[in-house]
Amino acid sequence: MLKGTHLIDPMDYSIEELDEIFQLSNQIIANPEEFSNLCHGKILATLFYEPSTRTRLSFEAAMLRLGGQVIGFSEANSSSVSKGESVADTVRTVACYADIIAMRHPKEGAPKVASIYSSIPIINAGDGGHQHPTQTLTDLLTIKRIKGRLSNLKVGFCGDLKFGRTVHSLIKALSRYEDNKFILVSPDELRVPEYTRKDLVKSNSEFMECEKLEEVIGQLDILYMTRVQRERFFNEEDYIRLKDSYILDKNKINKGTSELVILHPLPRVNEISYEIDEDPRACYFKQAKYGMYVRMALIAKLLGLR
Ligand code: NCD
Repeated sequence: MLKGTHLIDPMDYSIEELDEIFQLSNQIIANPEEFSNLCHGKILATLFYEPSTRTRLSFEAAMLRLGGQVIGFSEANSSSVSKGESVADTVRTVACYADIIAMRHPKEGAPKVASIYSSIPIINAGDGGHQHPTQTLTDLLTIKRIKGRLSNLKVGFCGDLKFGRTVHSLIKALSRYEDNKFILVSPDELRVPEYTRKDLVKSNSEFMECEKLEEVIGQLDILYMTRVQRERFFNEEDYIRLKDSYILDKNKINKGTSELVILHPLPRVNEISYEIDEDPRACYFKQAKYGMYVRMALIAKLLGLR
């Protein structure tokens, strides 16, 4: 039973609970009309202290498609935070108005703090360079629907593996399933943080780290591309030097198999050239769509309506 729980970390739910969410997502995808009034009278608050397009709008669209309503802010300086209000006080107040909260915050751990003070479910919609569990739900649902499984996969992660929170969360989540192998492609300075490497070791997952995508792309079932996270760099020169480390183009992709699935949490900057979008292996816009459906399922579960 997920009713009333918070989603802060991708490991908060068991594999069985994740399956429940995916099953409901599949039912919603198959028959969205059946769910169009499920959240009638319920309110989602989106508290976004950091910019977002997909995550915030997909949460909002999810709630609206379930027949519920949405309140919130999309930048901290349009809320009382600019007057110095703490996250704890903001959520205690918002919990008086809404039934469920999705929160994005630049500080790692802020949604966790919020969950301690909140009487209603808190969903972490991204905390700094740390975790992004609903993107992970999106990624897992996408992989499951396209590949038919979440185990026995060779998954390549490419780009900014240091600051990319979607990477940290997805590696953690996929390392729970059997026989997944991870190939981590990044410049030396943007390798995964130590805690992610520890997650991999702890789960006995096979993994390797390297710098050249061309050398490994041919082995992959999934290629998860990521953007270099400009906003998390301490200086602009480092960003400029590293930003175009990897650009996936026709040349590189031709070395991949015909079964390769290319994912990206989006937004993309330069790391996937537009010519790839027409390739049937490019699944990132499909992935964005599944993100809305999985959030519908999550909201319905946390509110105890399914
Ligand atoms: C990601 C994020 O915010 O971490 N975007 C998203 O939620 N789809 C990835 C990114 O910003 O690069």
